[in-house]
Amino acid sequence: MNARVFAAINDQINSEFQASYTYLAMSGFCDRQKFLGAAKWLRLQSDEERLHGMKLFDFVLARDGAVELTALAQPAVAFESLPAVFEQVLAHEQAVTAQINKLYELCFTEKAFAEMTELQWFLTEQVEEEKTAREIVTKFRLIKNDPAAILDMDRDLGARAAAPAAPAP
Ligand SMILES: [Fe+2]
Ligand SMILES: [Fe+2]
Repeated sequence: MNARVFAAINDQINSEFQASYTYLAMSGFCDRQKFLGAAKWLRLQSDEERLHGMKLFDFVLARDGAVELTALAQPAVAFESLPAVFEQVLAHEQAVTAQINKLYELCFTEKAFAEMTELQWFLTEQVEEEKTAREIVTKFRLIKNDPAAILDMDRDLGARAAAPAAPAP
């Protein structure tokens, strides 16, 4: 595998684990505020991000590359409000999309065809991730500070089911 492509995929692995860590911290915050639905949603999201990291981890190994796991940054532990948490989720997903796009462009330039195929899964996933986060944020913006509506949203978030299956390596 091309060294530049390799390094960039390693960065993406770090970024997926960072997302997992960030969402786990958000889940802890929500749990402490007794927004147990949101806490569950974020915990499941954290699990999903870990699987994204593992998918690339396994891909690099399958390509006979060395995975370099790097340090994770300490995630934020306190937030202004429940809606503020999800504003950050959306912003985070948008940043990840930009990052995947850049990575895909690099693979294209470097003619890393197998890597492009692998990354197609992530491009599709980001469309879904952004769509979901945007829907949640839009509802929170609509209901503003209405406690009853916020409690309803929390209950709805808690209805999230675990992902049906881990993405194939
Ligand atoms: Fe991800
Ligand atoms: Fe994500």
